[in-house]
Amino acid sequence: MTTGKFLVYGAYGYTGELITRFAAERGLQPILAGRSEEKTRAISEKFGFEYRSFALDDVGGLDAALSEIDVVLHCAGPFSITSRPMVEACIRNGTHYADITGEIAVFEACAAMDAKAKDAGIMLMPGVGFDVVPSDCLARHLKDRLPTATHLSLAFYGMGRLSHGTQATMTMNVGRGGAIRRDGKITNVPAAWRIRSIDFGEVKKTGVTIPWGDVATAFYSTGIPNIEVYTVVPPQNMRMLKMSRYLGWLLATGFAQRYLQANIPAGGPSDEERAKGRTLMWGEASDDQGNRVESLQQGPEGYTLTAIAALNIIEKVLAGNLKTGYQTPAKAYGADLVMEIDAVIRRDVV
Ligand SMILES: NC(=O)c1ccc[n+]([C@@H]2O[C@H](COP(=O)([O-])OP(=O)(O)OC[C@H]3O[C@@H](n4cnc5c(N)ncnc54)[C@H](OP(=O)(O)O)[C@@H]3O)[C@@H](O)[C@H]2O)c1
Repeated sequence: MTTGKFLVYGAYGYTGELITRFAAERGLQPILAGRSEEKTRAISEKFGFEYRSFALDDVGGLDAALSEIDVVLHCAGPFSITSRPMVEACIRNGTHYADITGEIAVFEACAAMDAKAKDAGIMLMPGVGFDVVPSDCLARHLKDRLPTATHLSLAFYGMGRLSHGTQATMTMNVGRGGAIRRDGKITNVPAAWRIRSIDFGEVKKTGVTIPWGDVATAFYSTGIPNIEVYTVVPPQNMRMLKMSRYLGWLLATGFAQRYLQANIPAGGPSDEERAKGRTLMWGEASDDQGNRVESLQQGPEGYTLTAIAALNIIEKVLAGNLKTGYQTPAKAYGADLVMEIDAVIRRDVV
């Protein structure tokens, strides 16, 4: 039985609150949730929404909250710590699951739950934010243009500040090096393994490979077996990134992590910063016969895009427009999903 309701877990985090605000502006009525009773109550009073407070190891609290909704939008990361208990609770309760992760391990863990999700009649869709909606749609667009593609490269250039949670998640993963997909398998490579010049149309930048979510998801969305994702790193950070190849183990120790995590500032970009920010994307697909296609895409600032993309998907799920099992955004909704967002422009170059 559907309830027409959704729950935002982690609603008092930076992105959770932004999503809550945008939901209110759309006239949606989410139930807000989080592990701190005090902070969850405060945010619910601010927006006038109902709230539930429970930790992710509180099975009773999870089950009670999920039994009264259709879909959860999980916004409390790092998701490699928080995703599993929520996914398991969704499977137990027949509740659809969406989150805003970008972590490869989380995508793969959800993909491994595909059969269980299908049995439960639910959709599992991690990555409904900036990572990976726009890049996943671009990947699917390139595959639609070149159905014989065997290699896919994607790049993004985000002009804007990072939130607390994004920095916390990146810091947690700092010692783990890079990753690409090779012959269908996720393969570990050193940090900044490949460097190439990327022409985003209006600017040319130097990109380096990073273990971005599409290394996992684009394979499910396109079937292309070789995938690399690049981002733009300022020249002064390039040295740091390369040093992390040798010092990564040190940064991953408990002591270094406690120090680094404690020094990440709370919050994220202000409304003004978000309004000024933009994201540029580039993608290329090629095949073994020498065919090649290239496309560009641009859109709003990353956190703005995350909130809009996530709510667009939640509205589809509430309307019954979904596919059960593990899904990526473009696999379920196609390459044009991202074009539903105002200010997104896509252009084919080759
Ligand atoms: N896909 C994308 O493009 C995208 C965009 C934005 C954010 N993100 C990701 O989303 C996550 C949140 O980012 P943010 O900047 O909004 O973070 P934030 O401001 O630091 O907020 C994090 C939220 O998660 C909660 N939380 C953390 N660990 C938890 C746990 N073990 N159990 C329950 N709640 C927990 C926090 O609650 P407490 O205050 O009680 O700890 C807080 O409500 C990060 O992983 C980030 O990488 C992804």
